[in-house]
Amino acid sequence: MSISFEPLHPVFAAEVRGLDIRQKLDAASAAVVEDAMNRYAVLVFRDQPIDEAQQMAFTRWFGPLDRGFSKVAQRKTRFEDPTMADISNVDLEGRIVSRFDRKLASHFANQLWHSDSSFQPEAAKFSILSSHAVPSRGGETEFADMRAAYDALPEDIKAEIDGLEVEHWALHSRFFLGDTDYSEAQINAIPAVRWPVVRVHPGSKRKTLFIGAHARELVGMPLPEGRVMLLDLLEHSTQAEFVYRHHWRVGDVVMWDNRCTLHRGRRYDLSERRELRRSTTIEAEAPRERVA
Ligand code: OGA
Ligand code: MN
Repeated sequence: MSISFEPLHPVFAAEVRGLDIRQKLDAASAAVVEDAMNRYAVLVFRDQPIDEAQQMAFTRWFGPLDRGFSKVAQRKTRFEDPTMADISNVDLEGRIVSRFDRKLASHFANQLWHSDSSFQPEAAKFSILSSHAVPSRGGETEFADMRAAYDALPEDIKAEIDGLEVEHWALHSRFFLGDTDYSEAQINAIPAVRWPVVRVHPGSKRKTLFIGAHARELVGMPLPEGRVMLLDLLEHSTQAEFVYRHHWRVGDVVMWDNRCTLHRGRRYDLSERRELRRSTTIEAEAPRERVA
């Protein structure tokens, strides 16, 4: 059976047909997926209920595994692999948690536009999210194409941001949300890191904006000026024409490229169960400069 791609949006995102990612992949199929990611940046697989081992095996085709935020908050999870992130509103026993549970802080941080692990020197590459329980309404995930957003910027803004650097910090979005109860050690666990605001995607060679909820300042610019500019760029980039909204069904698997998209979860009724599992890879390239 041959693999095909059904576009889901005018500028990016496609549904994949003819590939069962629960089966052991071969190098040729993995290369087809990687090529499609360079083009579409978001791929959707429908009706593929996947277990943990299958998801990890699929993920490993696309790079070393990412530990991300677990370096700040080492939490027990329900999973065997410590790099599998529990994107849910349930506890270790599978019970829906109280809306005041600390666990939900990361849930709400996920509802701000972001790129996974953009706060660390090893850039996150692909995230793979599988769906195991979905609420009756809300709880969608939205994706924004940061290549198309960059292309559509006015020339004077392109010139203004050319060569600018942006600092990303792991706890910036947490502090923004009022989630500030972290020890010194946790605060220092992941030093901020500097990225060019405009990056060239290694796979597609397209220019892309690297911003989002972890971006806390533009280097060399007064803090308020930089933050307003970051908000402006975010507002531009997340206009409807650049956004694909995924309505989850149980058994969906969605993968996205963190280097050229932003994503966010949408609100839903927290008394309903929502369970997703995320595995993420990093780009294997030279680490970035860290900032004290
Ligand atoms: C994630 C994430 C958003 C959502 O898994 O990295 O941001 O909709 N998820 O749960
Ligand atoms: Mn995320």
